Amino acid sequence: MEQATKFKVQDKATGAFFNCASNQSLLVAMERTNPGLIKVGCRGGGCGLCKIRVVEGDYLTKAMSRKQVSVTEEAQGYALACRAYPRTNLMFEVVASSQQTD
Ligand code: FES
Repeated sequence: MEQATKFKVQDKATGAFFNCASNQSLLVAMERTNPGLIKVGCRGGGCGLCKIRVVEGDYLTKAMSRKQVSVTEEAQGYALACRAYPRTNLMFEVVASSQQTD
C-alpha cells in the first residue's frame, strides 16, 4: 500500500496555506481548512465550479470534463480541484467560474 505523503498547498491570492495528502483531492483539503475559498459543486469533475490554475508544483488529475478544462488549458496548469491530487508542494489560484462557450 502506498503511503500518503502530505504536501503544503498555498492559495496565491490570499497567501493561505493548507496541507493536502497525496491521496486527497485539493478540493477536500481546501474545504476542510479554508471553507469558502472555493465554490463546490458536483465533486466529480463535471461542473467547473472548483476550477483552479496551478502556478507552481506538480499534481495528477483524474478525469475532468473537457467542457470545463480544454486540452490547451490543462497544459497551462488549469485543473478542477475536486480531481487534482498533489505530487509536490503547490501554489495555485482560484479561477472565477466563467461561462465560456468556445
Ligand atoms: S466540484 Fe464540480 S468540477 Fe469540481
